[in-house]
Amino acid sequence: MSSEGEKFDTLLHETRRFSPPRAFREQATASSQEIYHKAAANPEEFWAEQARCLQWSNPFTKVLDWEPPHARWFYDGELNAATNTVDRHRQGATKNKAAIIWEAETGERTVLTYDMLGREVDRAAHMLTSLGVGAGDRVTIYLPMVPELVIAMLACAKIGAIHSIVFGGFSAKALAERINDADAHVVITADAGFRRGKVVPLKANTDQALTQCPRVKQVVVVERVGQVEGLTMHQGRDVWWHEMMDQAPATPFAAVPRNAEDVLFTLYTSGTTGKPKGIVHSTAGYLTGANTSCRLVFDLKPDDIYFCTADIGWITGHTYVVYGPLSCGATVVIYEGAPDWPERDRYWEIIERYGVTVFYTAPTSIRTFMKWGPELPSSHRLDSLRLLGTVGEPINPEAWMWYYQVIGQSRCPIVDTWWQTETGAAMISPLPGLTELKPGSAAVPVPGIFTDVVDAKGEPVGPGGGGYLVVTRPWPSMLRTIWGDDPRYRETYWDRFPGVYFTGDGARVDEDGYYWILGRVDDVINVSGHRIGTMEVESALVDDRRVAESAVIGRHHDVKGQAISAFVTLKEGVQGTSELAQDLKVHVAETIGAMARPEEIFFTAELPKTRSGKIMRRLLRDVAEGRALGDTSTLADPAVIESLKQQYEGQD
Ligand code: WT7
Repeated sequence: MSSEGEKFDTLLHETRRFSPPRAFREQATASSQEIYHKAAANPEEFWAEQARCLQWSNPFTKVLDWEPPHARWFYDGELNAATNTVDRHRQGATKNKAAIIWEAETGERTVLTYDMLGREVDRAAHMLTSLGVGAGDRVTIYLPMVPELVIAMLACAKIGAIHSIVFGGFSAKALAERINDADAHVVITADAGFRRGKVVPLKANTDQALTQCPRVKQVVVVERVGQVEGLTMHQGRDVWWHEMMDQAPATPFAAVPRNAEDVLFTLYTSGTTGKPKGIVHSTAGYLTGANTSCRLVFDLKPDDIYFCTADIGWITGHTYVVYGPLSCGATVVIYEGAPDWPERDRYWEIIERYGVTVFYTAPTSIRTFMKWGPELPSSHRLDSLRLLGTVGEPINPEAWMWYYQVIGQSRCPIVDTWWQTETGAAMISPLPGLTELKPGSAAVPVPGIFTDVVDAKGEPVGPGGGGYLVVTRPWPSMLRTIWGDDPRYRETYWDRFPGVYFTGDGARVDEDGYYWILGRVDDVINVSGHRIGTMEVESALVDDRRVAESAVIGRHHDVKGQAISAFVTLKEGVQGTSELAQDLKVHVAETIGAMARPEEIFFTAELPKTRSGKIMRRLLRDVAEGRALGDTSTLADPAVIESLKQQYEGQD
């Protein structure tokens, strides 16, 4: 902790502060500190007021029922998420307003107005109903970033089915595991997707996954690429999306009213065991969090053109591409592909083409843009931008400054939003018209959210101290449980500090009450803002019969934030060749997904362990990051780590 402590003090010392520009302040939705005071004085009343911004078919009279660790919010009310994101904007002036501006990687562009989107959602709801999907059923969606993805998720919402979206970068095996855990009987996928000009075989992956999923009855296939080589449609199981949509009635579909607490979706995320967790989100509480943060944190207004670069397969895409902005009636830009395809200025071109006003991306992307140089953004008109955001990992002050000056032209506030799949919506973030910004700090909890930093005993550490980041009161968009595993929900989030939500992150609070997030304190690695459990990678490695044991750690990486280093011991007589290392990397990518592929594999005769047999990851991290070794006094055999270090240095 001491080197981190020093780094932190230097940071504080050097920190510059940026006040919200006057032009921004004057038009901001949250324009007075009063909002913090009101929320602190009566959080339940504050959230009830926010929830009333949604449209309810049956208004709630109860606000919160809190029996730790289970919360129910607005629990006697009824509403529908598709009504709130689409149908309520299909009347009056917004009926023909652009809801989605979609740009394909290959260049095609499509605009869906709220009314057009609503018609598609209605048709898809009829289609899913005809396939036997009803309220409460799970539908797994494995699609690229195409309009059908939004249509499919909102169609589920409209009929009260629970969507479980699996990011298109996940492997067949990861997909199968998630389909089975959710017990989904219907899967929606595409023939294939485009990524950097290459064809990603989503249908083939799905076919492979389904050999492990006997309960899946129906697969709906969106034709995105066309003429995909080797594509087979399984008679009786597979149907084309466009054929089914053509057959579905073009009549309005009556939204199924949902109780506030009914599950809107599940989304899988990595934890400290090999098994991913199906994070369960409610309908009303989740929508309240998504909607409120879009108004207060992103300051979304009717005339904004909003562009969030996250894939909808992650929580950022759920909340800040779909549910949040559409619930505000905003215009959302969705880009299908990679930022460097065909050229490295694709995002800047998009911002210029559509006049994007609010732009939200990840620190890892910002660091990549920095590497590519300021000429690319500078060759485009970015003066439509008025607000920038980041999410996914701590942003280093250097990247923050670059984002502020080069992209925001020192005119746009930056909202560094700390949150998680589990929290549903932004938790710690500046309010852009109110909060003074410090590069590298996510600032303060948003109104209605209560966080703290505590020591191992759960005692608040106070200003300047480092410790565990916790949330001390329930909030509407909090996860409700882990799908099918409530004991794991209690254990993971609530057992460490009773009655208090444990985030898994370390943080410090400074004298001004600003939060500085230090990263995960558990066995979770954050690679380019994607969460990967070390256990998942380790079990993929020991799958290979040549591997005896493995230890996986996250090491510092200049662009990705963290990269995966794997330390592997081999079975008797097996040679640690570069071919084997290559095989293992490919195997991990095939088992989990390309984002989990280890950056380097390091063969070693033994792993450093304590006398009780616990692998000392801290020492492996020291080795991988080329640091002087920390305390080795508890090692069972200190020679192991020395020889490892020598080998490792010899390798570079
Ligand atoms: C973890 C959650 C929800 C956003 C996408 C990732 C890290 C997220 C920040 C930030 C520092 C951040 C944390 C958190 N994280 N945002 N602004 N500053 N760290 O969602 O996969 O659920 O990961 O991402 O470590 O626990 P996720």
